[in-house]
Amino acid sequence: MSSDTSKFHESKKSPAVLKHAILDSYASVFASKTGSTSIGHRVAFIDGYAGPGRYTDGTEGSGALLLRKAKDLAAYPRDVECHFVENDAETVARLREVAKTEGAGVTYTITDAHISAHLPELLDTVKDIPLFVYLDPCGLPIPLDEVARIFDRPNGNGAPATEVLINLTANLRRFAGHLHSEKAQENSLKRLDLAFGGDWWRDVWLEHFPTKDGSDDQRTAAELAVVKGYADKLRERGAGAGIWIIDVRQRANLKPVYYLIFATRNIHGMMAFGESTSKGLEHWRKYNAKAAAAGTLFGESEWEAGWKAEEAKLSAQWVDTLAARLTAELEKGREFRIIDRTEEILGDDLVGLVREMHFRAAIKKVFAAGKTTTDPKGSKVRLEALTLKPA
Ligand SMILES: C[S@@+](CC[C@H](N)C(=O)[O-])C[C@H]1O[C@@H](n2cnc3c(N)ncnc32)[C@H](O)[C@@H]1O
Repeated sequence: MSSDTSKFHESKKSPAVLKHAILDSYASVFASKTGSTSIGHRVAFIDGYAGPGRYTDGTEGSGALLLRKAKDLAAYPRDVECHFVENDAETVARLREVAKTEGAGVTYTITDAHISAHLPELLDTVKDIPLFVYLDPCGLPIPLDEVARIFDRPNGNGAPATEVLINLTANLRRFAGHLHSEKAQENSLKRLDLAFGGDWWRDVWLEHFPTKDGSDDQRTAAELAVVKGYADKLRERGAGAGIWIIDVRQRANLKPVYYLIFATRNIHGMMAFGESTSKGLEHWRKYNAKAAAAGTLFGESEWEAGWKAEEAKLSAQWVDTLAARLTAELEKGREFRIIDRTEEILGDDLVGLVREMHFRAAIKKVFAAGKTTTDPKGSKVRLEALTLKPA
């Protein structure tokens, strides 16, 4: 393992806090829901770029996290199996140690292989049970064709669920920079072609970032357009019901550090993932607020009070935006469910930020304003699936 890779696994950096918070929340939801009807309550997680399980400083990586989930869920009962693939010898050895001490009673496999080579065999092993695949490379992911093959599993009519979470790192901009260099590094560009399922992304990039002196905003727009193009390709290849793209930023006014793409064939999976993302982001904002206060004169109580005030402000803004969008939909004179109008109600800006509690506050507001006859109080269904009727 290179010293760079070693350093990478020393301690958890802020962006990893977010992806793990989302994984922590959603793994339980996925296993509880899909494992309630699966054969023997079995559910599988594939962690394709597994890492060492724990960072050198002892904090949890995805390996330790998923093993913990499998143990916690056993009581429900859920028979969660974890399949880890990691192709760095030293890292895989660390993961094996972690699993030896923390994986007692859990069904797991750890394979020292390239994920491309081992994925087909794993897909065969778990073909009859619900599957969540987490692909978290440090660089470019495996070719889109191979990711799409995960969705070749049967669909509909009681077929087991299939979901994928991919980390697309923003170092896409480093590769794409070659599009403007005089001696275009064709090999680097071809690596992106392979990861993104063709060279379509080159035109998309150049459309948003036409010259090498473009602005940072143009670069971010180009990046997001390519990530959206990637998501569309996955959808065309059978990822189905929906895809969430979460752009992970340190703060709202900074450029994304990476993008998480979540693909599912189940609309309820979309909403449940949105709920987990919203909670994960809240956890992450808290982490960042605490980290920003460390070493300053602010005491524990001050940073927490400041963070809570910021959260209340954000929440109020989201509820107002949601209420305005719900009102606009209701004014069209037809009943609808949020789940069927995600683009209109969530747009690009609220995806992954809002959850049930914000929907509740917004619907209450619209109800109080006399725009709907639907009172969310005591609803037996989740609010995104509640039919909202115009007044
Ligand atoms: C970002 S780290 C993983 C972090 C981990 N998933 C977590 O969330 O804690 C990426 C890992 O993928 C491994 N890796 C890189 N290329 C791989 C490949 N083709 N197949 C399997 N593992 C790979 C690297 O050695 C590294 O440990």
